[in-house]
Amino acid sequence: MSAQQPQTLAIIGQGYVGLPLAMAAVDVGWSVIGVDSFEAKVSQINAGSSPIEDISDAQLQAAISKGAYKATTDYSAVSQASVITICVPTPLNEKREPDLALLRSAATGIAPYVSNETLVVSESTSYPGTLRDIIIPIINSLKPEDSSKIYFASAPERVNPGDLVWNQKNTPRLVGSTDEESQQRALAFYESICDAVVLVSTPEVAEAAKLLENTFRLVNIALVNEFTQLCSAGGINVHEVIDAASSKPYGFMSFRPGVGVGGHCIPVDPLYLTWWARQNGGKASFVESADSINHNMPKYVADRALGLVDPSIRNPKVLILGVAYKPGVGDVRETPVSELRNHLKHQGAEVAWHDPLVPVWEGSNPVDLAWDCDVAILATKQPGMNLTQLIARGIKILDCTNSISGETGVSSL
Ligand SMILES: NC(=O)c1ccc[n+]([C@@H]2O[C@H](COP(=O)([O-])OP(=O)(O)OC[C@H]3O[C@@H](n4cnc5c(N)ncnc54)[C@H](O)[C@@H]3O)[C@@H](O)[C@H]2O)c1
Repeated sequence: MSAQQPQTLAIIGQGYVGLPLAMAAVDVGWSVIGVDSFEAKVSQINAGSSPIEDISDAQLQAAISKGAYKATTDYSAVSQASVITICVPTPLNEKREPDLALLRSAATGIAPYVSNETLVVSESTSYPGTLRDIIIPIINSLKPEDSSKIYFASAPERVNPGDLVWNQKNTPRLVGSTDEESQQRALAFYESICDAVVLVSTPEVAEAAKLLENTFRLVNIALVNEFTQLCSAGGINVHEVIDAASSKPYGFMSFRPGVGVGGHCIPVDPLYLTWWARQNGGKASFVESADSINHNMPKYVADRALGLVDPSIRNPKVLILGVAYKPGVGDVRETPVSELRNHLKHQGAEVAWHDPLVPVWEGSNPVDLAWDCDVAILATKQPGMNLTQLIARGIKILDCTNSISGETGVSSL
C-alpha cells in the first residue's frame, strides 16, 4: 500500500506530542483538527500562540491561516476524520502506578463520533495490552451503530522535545496493529508523515518496545549516577572517566550524571513496566533499583552543595540554576530539582532559583543571577544562561551538567 492521500486527521491532546504531529501532518497536506480538553490551551493555540518550544508561533499561525489546522474542545469534530490519533498524558497515580484516566476519557470522548472505517491510533506511552484491553473495548462499546468497522493500531511517539536533529519526520515510527487491514492503514498513514515506518507483529510489541527504550535510558542514567558517587568518594572525576570509556568504538554508550531524571517520560514509563511485570507475577528488580538510585540523587546533590558552604553559616543561601528537567525546554514536569529544593530547605537553606525558560515554578518566582548566595547549583544549563558574572563574583558552584567545569570555584558532580 502506498502512503495515504492526506485527508482529515484528528489528534486528541495538543501537547508536546500532539501539536508537533499536527504541524508535521499539515506540512504534508493533511487537514488537522486538534482536540484538547483544556479550554485555555485551545484558545491560546487558536490565537496563534504556541504552548510548546518546538513549534513556533509563525508555524502555527501559517497552519491556521491556510485553514489546515484548528484546535477545539469539541469531540464531535472527530467525525470528519479518517484517522484519529490519541496523544494524551499517561502519568502515575499517587501510588506511582499507571493512571490511564485521561486515556480512558479520550477513548470515551471520541467513541460516539468514530465513523465507519476510521483508523484509531494510540501514540500515548503505556504498558502492553493498553490498546487491546482498554482502548478498543471502550470504543467498540460506545461507537455509533453504523460504524461497523474501525481499525486500530499502537504507534508510540518517540519525540524528544528540544531536539534539533530528530523529529516526527526523520525518527522511524513503530507501528503494531491488531489485524492486517489495520496494519496496512496505519502504515499508509505514517508513511505520509514519516521517512521510515517499522512494522511489528502486535500492538503489544510496539507498546513494550517504547517501555524498553525509556527504561534503557533510566537504568543507564542510574548507573552513571551511582558511578558518580563512587568516583567522587574515590577522588576521581567521573566525566574524565566517561570520556575515557567513550573512546571505545563499540559496546559503550555514554550517559552523564545529573540531579536525577525528569519529564513526562523517563521517570514515569519504567514504572509502567514495573507495574506490568507485577501484574504478570514478575518483578522488574533491576528497574526498581535504578528508579531508587535516581530518586536519591537530589539528596546527594543537596549534600554535596551544602558541603561547599562554610560550616559556620547556619542557614546558607542557595541559588539553583535551571529548574526545567532538561536544557532547551521550560518543562518542569517531574523535574528532580523539586526534590533538590525540598532537601535543601529541609537542611535549613534559603533557596532561590533562576531559569530563563521558566517564568513561574511551583508558585514561586525566579530571581536574577545577581541574587546574593553562598553556593549555586547548576542543575540544568539553559541556553542563554550566562554565568560569567556569577563565576567572577567568586560564588562556589556545584556543576551538575559538566558545562562549566574548569572554571574557578566550580566543582563537578
Ligand atoms: N513529552 C514527550 O517528550 C513525549 C515523548 C514521547 C511520548 N510521550 C507520550 O505522549 C503522551 C502525551 O504526552 P505529552 O508530553 O504530549 O503531554 P502534554 O501534557 O504535553 O499534552 C497532552 C495534552 O492532552 C490534553 N488532554 C488530556 N486529557 C485529554 C482528553 N481526555 N481529551 C483531550 N485532551 C486531553 C491536555 O490538556 C494536554 O494539552 C504521553 O503518553 C507521553 O508519555 C511524550
